[in-house]
Amino acid sequence: MDAATPVEQQERETYLARTPASAALFARARDVLPGGDTRTGTFHAPYPLFVAEGDGCWLTDADSRRYLDTLYNFTSLLHGHAFPPIVEAIRAQAARGTVHGTANALQVELAEVLRARVPSVERLRFCNSGTEATLGAIRAARAFTKKPAILKMAGGYHGSHDAVAIAMSAAPSDLPPGITPGVAADVLIGGFNDLDRTATLIRRHRDRLAAVIVEPMLGSGALVASRAFLEGLRAVTAECGVLLILDEVITFRLGVGGLQGAFGIRPDLTSFGKIMGGGLPVGAFGGRADVMATFDPSRAGSIGHSGTYNGNATTMAAGLTALAHFDAAAVAALNATGDRLRARLNDAIAREDLDAVVTGYGSLMQLHLTAPPVTTPEAALAADLRFVKLMHLALANRDVFSSTRQLYVVATVMGEAELDHFAGAFAEALAVVARARRATSPVL
Ligand SMILES: Cc1ncc(COP(=O)(O)O)c(C=O)c1O
Repeated sequence: MDAATPVEQQERETYLARTPASAALFARARDVLPGGDTRTGTFHAPYPLFVAEGDGCWLTDADSRRYLDTLYNFTSLLHGHAFPPIVEAIRAQAARGTVHGTANALQVELAEVLRARVPSVERLRFCNSGTEATLGAIRAARAFTKKPAILKMAGGYHGSHDAVAIAMSAAPSDLPPGITPGVAADVLIGGFNDLDRTATLIRRHRDRLAAVIVEPMLGSGALVASRAFLEGLRAVTAECGVLLILDEVITFRLGVGGLQGAFGIRPDLTSFGKIMGGGLPVGAFGGRADVMATFDPSRAGSIGHSGTYNGNATTMAAGLTALAHFDAAAVAALNATGDRLRARLNDAIAREDLDAVVTGYGSLMQLHLTAPPVTTPEAALAADLRFVKLMHLALANRDVFSSTRQLYVVATVMGEAELDHFAGAFAEALAVVARARRATSPVL
């Protein structure tokens, strides 16, 4: 790799100078957490910001600096940090016991709310993460169809259990460390937004394929599935006796009934997480009543599915409150705000005359430092990650906290002042990237 340009060195030095308390905490962390890290997606060089507190749209780091949040814990904090109604719901529930070790009415209430919003979900079960949700949905599909294999998309992210750890990037790769060839043998890899290739695979392997799992918008890249792709998948899976699982862990926020509602697609199963827990750990999966009956404990041979915190009262209370403040009007308003922001960011790109584009839908978007169009994860691979990292540091140095891969999220509590702050910092950081790029381009 080329040596760092003066622009890159300058941003790195500024970051180091602004964050000594994070540096000290990172040094301590390295002694007890491998690489100082406990969550791969939050790690970056030279070290991540250590945050002391979140309030509305703002984070305060260990050096008492304030940053505008544009990530909101990877989309899960729909109403920002410490949203007063959610704080109150958690406080009230904690005083009555966080979890009781048996059923509670709040589980039923949240399940009813989810079903009312997402009609394909006739029955559902709660768990504690999106990872568990996709694991449960896949297990249901295998148990119901009595077939072993699944198909996921190259570049699709469904959490960190073994079957979905394969082909998390669109780049051809070896088996990830710790994953056995036996697991990989039951995972087929389709092409996102590539119906021909994927449908051919489904038809060819129909006898051993239990399910296709797909995000209606790839979270890694904020790349929206085309309607033709999703409709085609729905048709070919139905034709082949294969279940369709829509992973709406991230995209549930994009429509009252998730993106499946917006697109008019009825999957067999859906996985949820993130916003439905109101900021507490959560997951859920559900769908056709006959498929979900595989979990019915009163039936002989049902799937065992336990979890110490499944459906715990505190998460249920927080989730109910989050969704109560997210009716159809709120969803539409948030999506409109996101669409306006995305247009502003793309205008800033046009002014810099950079090969770049911000993709996405409604309140979710991602910057790709490569020439548009970017509609597949394969196209997104052309982005220059070196400058994506620079963008991330340059934003941090301008009081904006962003994801390392430049996924941006709009929370309901962001007002015009916050959006202006972000758009201004984005334009400045983009100018930094443009300067660094010019410094590394060969002179013709
Ligand atoms: C689409 C999708 N599925 C599943 C997951 C896993 O969720 P969790 O991190 O809660 O395990 C994620 C997390 O980002 C996701 O984006």
